[in-house]
Amino acid sequence: MMQPSPSREVESASLDVQSITGAIGAEVFGLDLSRPLGGSQLAAVEDAFARHLVLVFRDQDMDVEALERFALQFGPFGETPYITPMKGHPNVLRVLREAGEEGALFGGSWHSDWSFQERPPSATILYGKDVPEHGGDTAFTNQYLAYETLSAGMKRLLEGVNGAHSARRSYAPGGTFGRPNPNSSMDIHGSEDALEIQMHPLVTTHPVSGRKALFVNDVYTIGIEDMNDGESRALLGYLLEHSRRISFTCRVRWRPGTLTMWDNRCTQHHAIDDYSGRRREMYRVTVAGEKPVA
Ligand code: SIN
Repeated sequence: MMQPSPSREVESASLDVQSITGAIGAEVFGLDLSRPLGGSQLAAVEDAFARHLVLVFRDQDMDVEALERFALQFGPFGETPYITPMKGHPNVLRVLREAGEEGALFGGSWHSDWSFQERPPSATILYGKDVPEHGGDTAFTNQYLAYETLSAGMKRLLEGVNGAHSARRSYAPGGTFGRPNPNSSMDIHGSEDALEIQMHPLVTTHPVSGRKALFVNDVYTIGIEDMNDGESRALLGYLLEHSRRISFTCRVRWRPGTLTMWDNRCTQHHAIDDYSGRRREMYRVTVAGEKPVA
């Protein structure tokens, strides 16, 4: 059996976990994700996921079917709007940027996935198929810490208040990806539906951990209930900046065969646009989630 190094914690007989930073993220060693996880392995992965929020598994040899099977162990697939999925795999997105490609990067600002949905995905799973030798990391930030480090006065102010979430800035006709782009490797199609608004509490309670998390993000949170534009811009501006303080974050460096899963209910993430001239191809699935509650 693999011996853990002194800096690693052994979370079960078969799970060897090493934190990435003091705030968020862990690498998990010793699992072959192309095979079904046994009951105790699955429970150990779920336990590590609840504690670290972002799990990174290296050197996984997975095709699209294996990725789908892996994801389904955590729940049914989430819904993926606005982007044409892989042929024959309606729940898998190919997140691709060719070496010479320019323009807005998919996922290239702080967000939690599809927070404009009534039931945003609980988790996202991303597999690195072809990744640049350097660059193209994904950054993550811990939204439990973002909430817990607010002052008592700010916590009181946010209590019971909803944020307005919408896909309009990204996928409405005037949005970043709102018009077909023949030069993009991803078939992203905007729609008037993206103008819709979904209200979610600014502070949510995680259905598994019971902990409170700040639930706002740059891309999809467009306002605050019962506040005028100036007020909500000022408050959101503060919360968004606070939510990604460097001490809440980690960066995942990709290698071919790296699989990363993250919890959208208590994290935000940001694909970093620093690999111009290099190709990056990932497979992505989401796991269905619940309606966020305060
Ligand atoms: C995403 O936002 O789902 C994509 C993240 C990435 O490409 O690193």
